[in-house]
Amino acid sequence: MVEVSGEELYQWRNQSIELAIAADVPSKEVDWLLQKVTTLDALHLRLGTFKKKPSIKLSNSLPQLTELWQKRVEDRLPVQYLVGRSFWRDWEFKVSQQVLIPRPETELVIDIIQNVVRDPLQQENISQQQETHWVDLGTGSGAIAIGLATCLPTAIVHAVDISDQALKIAQENAQIAQLSAKIIFYQGNWWQPLQQLQGKVAGMVSNPPYIPTAELPHLQPEVFLHEPHLALDGGEDGLAAIRYLIAESPKYLVSGGIWLIEIMAGQAQAVTKLLKDQSEYEQVEIIPDLAGIERFILAHRV
Ligand SMILES: C[S@@+](CC[C@H](N)C(=O)[O-])C[C@H]1O[C@@H](n2cnc3c(N)ncnc32)[C@H](O)[C@@H]1O
Repeated sequence: MVEVSGEELYQWRNQSIELAIAADVPSKEVDWLLQKVTTLDALHLRLGTFKKKPSIKLSNSLPQLTELWQKRVEDRLPVQYLVGRSFWRDWEFKVSQQVLIPRPETELVIDIIQNVVRDPLQQENISQQQETHWVDLGTGSGAIAIGLATCLPTAIVHAVDISDQALKIAQENAQIAQLSAKIIFYQGNWWQPLQQLQGKVAGMVSNPPYIPTAELPHLQPEVFLHEPHLALDGGEDGLAAIRYLIAESPKYLVSGGIWLIEIMAGQAQAVTKLLKDQSEYEQVEIIPDLAGIERFILAHRV
């Protein structure tokens, strides 16, 4: 623990905001970092009321904070990795560079599922059974699995990722959300660790890697340089994992079971066609995100 005067911290904050503006980084992120290393809240930071305090406790010295902030503005390290935390729905999750930072648009996946299971036509298949099996394939930080476990009271959620390191973070996040008892984690390739669930799954949700390989270097440097390519790279046309999920899922889903994935802008028509060609799906629906971008594909097992 280090102590600095309010005036010193005030100066440091102003300089860091100037660096952020010059580097085109959102200046509010300075306060996210300061909230992590002090006990000051967002309002006190924004209003500058801490300036008159004779002493403020910091978990890092000001030169160490400057070094961290340089990682943000010069190396383009996302602030969520800098502070090791990311907000998603009602939670503050742990994140590291082993997991994708869960995105705000992905939050809608949980709302879509909530709407579908509330639909009386779907209830017979899904929500009235005593115990239902739901699957989150490519769980990363565990965000979707945790969201499903919260909104589906009778569900056991099976969360799979190929990355052991991601699974460790997901397990910690399930503990943070106090939902460890409802989620089972598996390391492996998509459906492969879930053979025992063939014909038993009420719903599969996935936010798979969907960026075409050649587009990766054109992503924002924050994403391309620091987020795991395993979470981004969808192969030559971006659809490698999606094709697999379309082909394999019917073996596992109950009749009427839900198939829901997130996609990238511009992929909706191709994914819809793949699903229709498979002939084991019905009620294929394209759902936009809040920005109006075709972002999710929902289908049901025949
Ligand atoms: C786009 S990220 C989604 C992470 C999280 N579900 C979310 O929405 O924030 C895709 C995830 O799929 C995982 N993944 C990639 N290939 C996989 C595979 N063959 N089997 C299982 N998971 C895989 C990655 O490790 C990554 O965590």
